[in-house]
Amino acid sequence: MSPIPKTAPFAEEEINLLNRVVGPASAVQRAWLAGFLAGLDASSLPGAVQPLAPARPAEPITIVYASESGNCEKLANDLAKAARKNGLKPTLIDMADLELSELTKAKRLVFIAATWGEGDPPARAVRAYSELMGEGAPRLDGVEFGVLALGDTAYAEFCAIGKKIDERLAALGGMRVVDRVDCDLDFAQPASVWLGDALKVLTPPDANRGQGNGQVIAVDFGKPAAAPNTDIVEAEISEHVNLNSSRSNKETIHLALAFEGGAPAYEPGDSLDIYPENDPAYVDELLKLAGLAGDDKLRAELIKSRDVTTLSLKTVETYAARTGHQYAKALLADGQAKDWIAGRQLIDLIAIFPIALTADHLRAVTRPLAPRAYSIASSRREVGDEAHLLISAVRYETNGRARKGVASNYAAERLKRGGRVRVKLKPNKHFAIAPADKDIIMVGPGTGVAPFRAFVQERRATAATGRSWLFFGDRQFTHDFLYQLDWQDALKDGSLTRMDVAFSRDTPEKIYVQHKLWEKRRDLIEWLDGGANFYVCGDAKNMAKDVRATLVRAYADVKALSPEAAEQAVASLERDKRYLQDTY
Ligand SMILES: Cc1cc2nc3c(=O)[nH]c(=O)nc-3n(C[C@H](O)[C@H](O)[C@H](O)COP(=O)(O)OP(=O)(O)OC[C@H]3O[C@@H](n4cnc5c(N)ncnc54)[C@H](O)[C@@H]3O)c2cc1C
Ligand SMILES: Cc1cc2nc3c(=O)[nH]c(=O)nc-3n(C[C@H](O)[C@H](O)[C@H](O)COP(=O)(O)O)c2cc1C
Repeated sequence: MSPIPKTAPFAEEEINLLNRVVGPASAVQRAWLAGFLAGLDASSLPGAVQPLAPARPAEPITIVYASESGNCEKLANDLAKAARKNGLKPTLIDMADLELSELTKAKRLVFIAATWGEGDPPARAVRAYSELMGEGAPRLDGVEFGVLALGDTAYAEFCAIGKKIDERLAALGGMRVVDRVDCDLDFAQPASVWLGDALKVLTPPDANRGQGNGQVIAVDFGKPAAAPNTDIVEAEISEHVNLNSSRSNKETIHLALAFEGGAPAYEPGDSLDIYPENDPAYVDELLKLAGLAGDDKLRAELIKSRDVTTLSLKTVETYAARTGHQYAKALLADGQAKDWIAGRQLIDLIAIFPIALTADHLRAVTRPLAPRAYSIASSRREVGDEAHLLISAVRYETNGRARKGVASNYAAERLKRGGRVRVKLKPNKHFAIAPADKDIIMVGPGTGVAPFRAFVQERRATAATGRSWLFFGDRQFTHDFLYQLDWQDALKDGSLTRMDVAFSRDTPEKIYVQHKLWEKRRDLIEWLDGGANFYVCGDAKNMAKDVRATLVRAYADVKALSPEAAEQAVASLERDKRYLQDTY
């Protein structure tokens, strides 16, 4: 090993030279050298030994991330690591914790932001985002900034939050020194290029003088040594059970996965990404429409690895550009494409604007098939090397056609007991279970209940002393009571203290979990006043918003607070990380 580290304040070739001398030197030779150099310094100075000039403080860089499922957070961490290596001093801020005054102090600023819901900020970032967009936002004159946006072209509001933050920082006087890049689901490569470029621009020429070579160090995308295994692994399906009755119009699959050589080290609150395959019948229909029915190689590729269903504006643009289809071009030119694609899929584009296609055309209009996340519904402390998932088959009708979600129907229809599936652990430290002596309130209608089965198993396995209260809801008690027996057992053995249920289609008036929360508001506020954590999982579009609004109303009613003070009460639960969400 070389005795002089690469971080020593010398150029690389000087470090090499020094190592050639110091490396093989004996202990006596080194001691002599140390004494000689010290003496040399002392003798060259008039009078007393002068202290060395203080090291120049590292230049700061502020990195803010707005993240829900961890992608932006991971990129922000990577950037901070690389910035540190480049001689900068990074301050890493989760937008959940951002105080806008921190931005005014920043000299260089990077935002890495995801978009959720339908053009919304990630749940944790909502407060700081609205403050940034609000009238009270401070001026950022002279702050150098760059924004990296993550999103999904399948959504109409592609990368909306990154775009808005980018515009806002400029409007507040910030100096955009790196142009924004909007990344789709396959963001790894473009994001890595952007981070590298941003670092080059934001690193002052002499920032890493201390390291000697003045070179910008490449972004290192390695994972931390202590992190759990997040590689793609294969699991065997050991159970595949539909939890709805045969008379339900829903199908929700309980999937137990067994891992040879140990399950990934997941914790309650984590998810697994499933790598799905497309429905072969759907791919056959697509190939037939494209005039490529005989191409078996392409068929296999489309089934396994291409997103053959998503139709985005970008897909139409690529289709029009590659094929020259005049009506597809006209759709774009008229500005009608955005409305036209709503509720449609790639197959509709090819059916309605037919033209002879090649395999390369199809490759060009399809992006890589992305994995889908599913909350883990088990605790390793109870199920050992298994992981359980709860997957609702997405089926709907649009534009007069029956459509099926790719991954949920892959799980429901094509995965069988004894078969295998590729999965990857997606840790979520922002949805971790509270310590065993703390009370927890869990709101999880539909598949939102999945992580709470993990929580309850964990509470049982750790003989937790804190109380736990579950709010569950679905359509009908008789047909859709997911994991009913598990909850009954848990109530009996005390791992679940209380349970309230809302079945929306059992009564003339629809009853949802938020109605149950309202009904039980006094006890709810009492639990929260006693320090309970409040967890919400499941539908982001309506349920999560209604639940939050109900909690605000509950505070106002029970504690006789003004609407503003009640809002503050919930906001402070969020700030204290006691109101936690995992919604989709
Ligand atoms: C962190 C996280 C945890 C999750 N946990 C779970 C879980 O535990 N269980 C679970 O079942 N799901 C869970 N999901 C959702 C899951 O990841 C998938 O999004 C879901 O299963 C649908 O995927 P799919 O491939 O079947 O559908 P896709 O092929 O992705 O199709 C879904 C798309 O179909 C369209 N669509 C759907 N319904 C309609 C409609 N009624 N009308 C018109 N268009 C429609 C929409 O464009 C929608 O985006 C979770 C998601 C996240 C992010
Ligand atoms: C339920 C859901 C809603 C989403 N809504 C949008 C959207 O409106 N616009 C968009 O561009 N991306 C959308 N996305 C894609 C995310 O922005 C993308 O997955 C991103 O990589 C997530 O980053 P994060 O892990 O840091 O939260 C959505 C993803 C999910 C699961």
